[in-house]
Amino acid sequence: MEDNFEPTILTFCCNWCSYAAADSAGTARMQYPPNIHIIRCMCSGMVHPNFVMNALTQGRTDGVLICGCHIGDCHYQDGNKRAEKRAEAITLMLEDFGLEEERFRLEWISASEGPKFVEAAKEMTKTLKELGPNPYKS
Ligand code: FES
Repeated sequence: MEDNFEPTILTFCCNWCSYAAADSAGTARMQYPPNIHIIRCMCSGMVHPNFVMNALTQGRTDGVLICGCHIGDCHYQDGNKRAEKRAEAITLMLEDFGLEEERFRLEWISASEGPKFVEAAKEMTKTLKELGPNPYKS
């Protein structure tokens, strides 16, 4: 593995909670790794597993992070419960494609949890640096 490997982490943040958390982290000048590339979506339940698997198997990213509201707080009632079910399917597909399950992560982060967003970003970056590049990238 290259010592200077910098993973790319595609990060879906729901508009109402986790995007606000990332925004508040930035406003509070909390530092998080530049490896995180945020896509703002309306709800974590809108992120279809195909988006995740295509990004990984087409070698467009080293990992995917989905962040949404805590269970019970989804602004579309149960979108995050759908995301949770989809996460299970994604984990199975990762195995089928020979990818480590650590390349995908689902987090519940409320608008007031900027530090939690920063922590998730740091942890995932560290994990992916240890794993090395996505084998589908070459
Ligand atoms: Fe945030 Fe549904 S609106 S997870």
